[in-house]
Amino acid sequence: MSQSPKTLIAGNWKMNGLTKDLAQFEAVVTALNEKPAPDCQVLLCPPVTILAGASQICQNSALQTGAQNTHVAESGAHTGDIGATMLRDAGADFIIVGHSERRADHQETDGVVNAKARSCLNAGLIPIICVGETHAERTSGLALTVVEHQLNGSVPDFDEGQEIVIAYEPVWAIGTGLVPDTNDITNMHAAIREWLVTRFGERGKGVRILYGGSLKPSNAAEILPIPNVNGGLIGGASLKSEDFLGIVYTV
Ligand code: 13P
Repeated sequence: MSQSPKTLIAGNWKMNGLTKDLAQFEAVVTALNEKPAPDCQVLLCPPVTILAGASQICQNSALQTGAQNTHVAESGAHTGDIGATMLRDAGADFIIVGHSERRADHQETDGVVNAKARSCLNAGLIPIICVGETHAERTSGLALTVVEHQLNGSVPDFDEGQEIVIAYEPVWAIGTGLVPDTNDITNMHAAIREWLVTRFGERGKGVRILYGGSLKPSNAAEILPIPNVNGGLIGGASLKSEDFLGIVYTV
């Protein structure tokens, strides 16, 4: 893996999107055909109900698709759940694991997130492993400690030829319009890089670290060039193709 990895701009649609919204995928594919973004890998993670349809639209295009969660097992008696191999079969290249909304809504522990990330790797998919502190943790000066603890528990070993991505998403910045100041993003991403290099050596330098939380076309040009920010994980602003492309084209 190269020392300065390619920027990844990833959209997380969360629990939004009906079949009619596949038009947004068509719009992004068309735009990237007409005006390529060669310095940028582009990914959208729709709800699983439209993942296969979205992946079909994205075939042979510069837009990739991913899922937002996986079960830890590959298959079996788990009514209502979906495993990583099934998501790959539906066209996913990436799976977001350990998003703070899943940690909060479904009591996902670091151990569960770690097992989900391993099941992604076993299925040949790239896990995007999310970490981030709450507002109370930030104001008590615990942000770095909390994130390091989450990394220790949530990040699995990975082999040569496999890839993981880390997403730093401060919980208090998600969907609020609030963004940490540049210094805080710089310090957190540097700390995550240091953790990765301590744990994985040279390979840790090639792991992409995304920033997520109220990232928009209006602040992307300020946030994305920060050292060790190797892309973004975008919620609200990924739902409309113009907003999402506005971020992609700042890279
Ligand atoms: P917003 O961009 O809506 O703040 O969401 C960020 C996020 O949670 C992406 O996973």
